[in-house]
Amino acid sequence: GNYTGALRPQVHYSPPVGFMNDPNGMFYLNGVFHLYYQYNPTGLTAGNQHWGHATSVDGYTWENQAIALFPPAERVYVFSGSAVVDVNNTSGFFPDQDNGIVAIFTLAHYNEDGSDGPQTQAIAYSHDEGYTFRYYDQNPVINSTSSQFRDPKVIRYGDSWAMVVAYSQEFALGIFTSPDLKEWTWASNFTHHGLLGAQYECPNLVKMPVRDQDGVTVDEKYVLTLSVQPGAPLGGSTTQYFMGNFNGTHFSTLDAATRLTDFAKDNYAAQFFYGMEGNAVSLGWASNWQYTQQVPTGNLEGWRSAMTLPRVNYLTKAPRIGWTMVDEIYDPKPILGESLKTETMGNGRVTVDYSEVESNALYIEANVTGINVAKLTSFSTVNLTFKSPASDESLRSGFYFGGDSPFFVDRGLLRGFDNIFFTDKFSVADVYYDSLTPKTASWRMQAVIDRSMYEVFLDGGRHAATVLFYPTHPLTRVDVAAQDLPEGAQVSVAVWSLKSTWA
Ligand code: FRU
Repeated sequence: GNYTGALRPQVHYSPPVGFMNDPNGMFYLNGVFHLYYQYNPTGLTAGNQHWGHATSVDGYTWENQAIALFPPAERVYVFSGSAVVDVNNTSGFFPDQDNGIVAIFTLAHYNEDGSDGPQTQAIAYSHDEGYTFRYYDQNPVINSTSSQFRDPKVIRYGDSWAMVVAYSQEFALGIFTSPDLKEWTWASNFTHHGLLGAQYECPNLVKMPVRDQDGVTVDEKYVLTLSVQPGAPLGGSTTQYFMGNFNGTHFSTLDAATRLTDFAKDNYAAQFFYGMEGNAVSLGWASNWQYTQQVPTGNLEGWRSAMTLPRVNYLTKAPRIGWTMVDEIYDPKPILGESLKTETMGNGRVTVDYSEVESNALYIEANVTGINVAKLTSFSTVNLTFKSPASDESLRSGFYFGGDSPFFVDRGLLRGFDNIFFTDKFSVADVYYDSLTPKTASWRMQAVIDRSMYEVFLDGGRHAATVLFYPTHPLTRVDVAAQDLPEGAQVSVAVWSLKSTWA
């Protein structure tokens, strides 16, 4: 793969060439993150699905590996799924090993006339920690005649395995159990919860710590994440989550609320790494089915789609707001390059020219403290704007501290750039507002900008957004501007260059 393209993310994973969608089979073993993904190695749109594979020791710096799963027969494709480490050899595939890997996924069959055939659940196993797999010779492990039954995610529960899998167009999740990953027994259904969209996809079930105000773990709960598309509130695809209890066979929610993992459009089908129990680390597909097959990276650079940064998740419970899943940026230290600027100001402006940063990628923190809430006006703002001096394009984001939906990201930089105006779906609703309450004395914002991707974490990750943008010229200047903040407010800004994964 050639990772030098001007739009190619440098600290996010993207495939060498071709089209990528959902993360699959993610597990962590012996210090290595394994990421598989829905992969069409021979085209720039979805189809011909394989499992691509990449590994990382820090969650940011990726190494491409050989394709892990190929279509097993004509007109049968390998769709999304998960993987587990079969430490106790429950499957019998690993007589002398405690590091055997079993992948569990959907085989999508197509009829000769091109119409959808059945989707069945199948397994494959690896004796070399996930680099090469063999298909089980008695697949499928869950048979079906439905063409809409997919995306199994398997976790360990007690002495058993538990699977969540989507009956996509029935708006139901099936929960199955198994002693050995081969024989599966249906246990319950979870149906018609939250946003339905046109279909349910890519469910995940994960145990998460509950932390109190001081960050101390006081409890554990389960989180069920569930992706839907099309039909997301902002258009296209989105991921929601439910908090609850799981007893090995049934999931029940703690409250009736539907919550989204992201307040923008470009985070779908996130999965949690198996083998990091107690530390729920996720990563999602940073795109949207609404336009992913048209984005200009295909024509210009021969690849489409990247993954989000890895994120650490935990739960909090505040008396008024209720449950929140906090989506923290995973420790960014491994990719931090040089500190380009640290400054503390009241009202004022900090500008950093980063045209010399080879990766063209930055990490930025802005901490706003000492806000006298009673004195905020509707002009009280902290804006974070990235610019291309060459083309006058910009990506804007920031706080309107006086407003009701005070945070925004505006990727409307494409306007007027006809050569990359690739789909009308991309620029409509291109300003995202977050509904957090501004009336607090301090705010923290962390952001990573990476050539054509922008990820923002507010309030330590209580709110997060992933936003794609495609400038015709690299953005190379960042401005942080604070205006009309009440006396006593302080804005501390830190800007770092990031080291490229691919350099
Ligand atoms: C979600 C999805 C899955 C399916 C895969 C096919 O993005 O539609 O439901 O397994 O993509 O690539």
